[in-house]
Amino acid sequence: MARKKITIVGAGNVGAHAAVWASIKELGDIVLIDVIEGVPQGKGLDLTEASPVEGFDSRITGTNDYNDTANSDVVIITAGIARKPGMSRSDLINTNTGIIKGVTEQIVKYSPNAIIIVVTNPLDVMVYVAWKASGFLQNRVIGMAGALDAARLKSFIAMELNVSVEDVHAMVIGGHADEMVPLPRYSTVAGIPITQLMGKERLDAIMERTKKAGGEIVSLLKTGSAFYAPSAAVIEMAEAIIRDKKRIIPCAAYCNGEYGVNGIFIGVPVKLGSNGVEEIIEIELNEEEKAQFDNSVSAIRKLIEDIKI
Ligand code: NAI
Ligand code: 2OP
Repeated sequence: MARKKITIVGAGNVGAHAAVWASIKELGDIVLIDVIEGVPQGKGLDLTEASPVEGFDSRITGTNDYNDTANSDVVIITAGIARKPGMSRSDLINTNTGIIKGVTEQIVKYSPNAIIIVVTNPLDVMVYVAWKASGFLQNRVIGMAGALDAARLKSFIAMELNVSVEDVHAMVIGGHADEMVPLPRYSTVAGIPITQLMGKERLDAIMERTKKAGGEIVSLLKTGSAFYAPSAAVIEMAEAIIRDKKRIIPCAAYCNGEYGVNGIFIGVPVKLGSNGVEEIIEIELNEEEKAQFDNSVSAIRKLIEDIKI
């Protein structure tokens, strides 16, 4: 069987680390592309030189030329800028909208059959921009956020209860912002709902920490945002697609009436396989969870109104 091909756009912190996880898992050959000359080439070569040590047979190409991305099976978009002092949220949205639009047009031109996973922030808006620019069916454009937010919640649960992360499952839906909706009722340790394993005070504290987890890392790093867990999370999604695993992972998916939402991307539990989003799983939400989810929907809609595409 021919090797799969994965393109990662943006060879920065998230992109380069995604290349590392994908290589170690031998998901396929990898193309790292960036606008900066030399950086994708240098990181690609450096990672290639790690392959005899770790024993992986992925070919890694660093490039500035979209010709090299041709016929990719999965494309991960991490390209973009982060907010800088003096920059408003809408400045960031407008700049990244332009970047995502341009990148997606190139990707689609060279890889018309790819599945696209968007990582760039603000995530729920950028995945919408990529979908619009791609002309692809909705199942083939997906945003990464829930996989990361759920991984963070799983880590906090395992730390709190002193149990193996392998036994922890967690669900976080909604947008990738303070309005995200961690769902304790659907989070378990070896099948036992965590609501039975810890008191309300600890539970609330962990949910709150999950919502602010991205900011917690930024305030520690000071010069950038998280990248180990985000890159691992996006490769978890890529692996589910490449190996057709039918994993159930919360992802930003286009809703067509599911959860009462139409026409936007938002975090929902998704079955991920070789066709991308193969199903959106509709779980029952109680009144409080539904109100939080609806609040998240409104926040995303407000951001989408601001963008010019
Ligand atoms: P970074 O600054 O380290 O890397 C971004 C890279 O994109 C840079 O190398 C830059 O040269 C490149 N780039 C800019 N414009 C480009 C273009 N037109 N074509 C190709 N490459 C281009 O940033 P980092 O830490 O890797 O984060 C990337 C993005 O992912 C940010 O928007 C960040 O907020 C977002 N993010 C989203 C997460 C999520 O859960 N969805 C989690 C972590 C980060
Ligand atoms: C995070 O949650 C910055 O979205 C990024 O870490």
